[in-house]
Amino acid sequence: MQIITTKSELTRQSAACLRQGRTIGFVPTMGALHEGHASLIRRACSENEVCFVSVFVNPTQFNNAEDLQKYPRTLEKDAQLLESLGVHFVFAPTPEEMYSAEEMAAPFIFDFNGLDDVMEGKMRPGHFNGVVQVVSRLFELVRPTRAYFGEKDFQQLAIIRYMVEHSAMSHLFQDIQIIGCPIVREKSGLAMSSRNERLSKAEKQTAVAISQTLISSMDWAKTAPVATVQQRVIDTINAVDGLQVEYYDIVDKDTLQPTNTWQNAVGCVTVFCGPVRLIDNIQY
Ligand code: PAF
Repeated sequence: MQIITTKSELTRQSAACLRQGRTIGFVPTMGALHEGHASLIRRACSENEVCFVSVFVNPTQFNNAEDLQKYPRTLEKDAQLLESLGVHFVFAPTPEEMYSAEEMAAPFIFDFNGLDDVMEGKMRPGHFNGVVQVVSRLFELVRPTRAYFGEKDFQQLAIIRYMVEHSAMSHLFQDIQIIGCPIVREKSGLAMSSRNERLSKAEKQTAVAISQTLISSMDWAKTAPVATVQQRVIDTINAVDGLQVEYYDIVDKDTLQPTNTWQNAVGCVTVFCGPVRLIDNIQY
């Protein structure tokens, strides 16, 4: 496994693979890798001839300085896991390598056609512009055959699919297959997330109520209308000491706009467990 820190070396290696006609699987990450990432990487390694993973805590997608500062950074441990998974190339640049000073200072603007007006986009203004900025740059450098994203970040996945078709670079991206992979959960049901590292043991137990409530809502959805289930999910989670719902939206899987039917519906939740912001979702 080779660890690459410069854009020029990354393009050199990926161009060599493409010249040899090899398929490239790519998994972009922000590190602090867990079993959720490992499931994406195993799939990327098994479905492609070469596997690239990026480990980069992208500053332009954080709209909260404390969240950026506290985001876990565990490159050495991550590299061991990546090696054991059979990854060929790891791209781990510094922010200065990724962006010019102007790019760091001025927000990148992308028109999401309303996909970012709801949920994470509404709560974290500018977040998805930063995600698209970094993912489009990484795609441009790696030129993957397939790129893998977790369904835990449901809105992110929808936005990346949209970006591939609609960005100014869509001519470069149109052949990239975007592959969504199912949420990986702890035995307790808690959705795996790098942010879980910031939870105490007790908070981890408390946070289990999030997935438990989402699972119960599948039953409630059999007889109750969307608005009733939405409110019941919010009330049930808020009744747990230590949890505070930021939003629970039931939206259409494709448009991400609020829906009042169960057809094609996904429920996306964000909950504060102490200071840690956790997200999860369930497809009805
Ligand atoms: O999902 C993530 O970890 C990040 O948003 C991504 C896609 C690696 C971009 O920084």
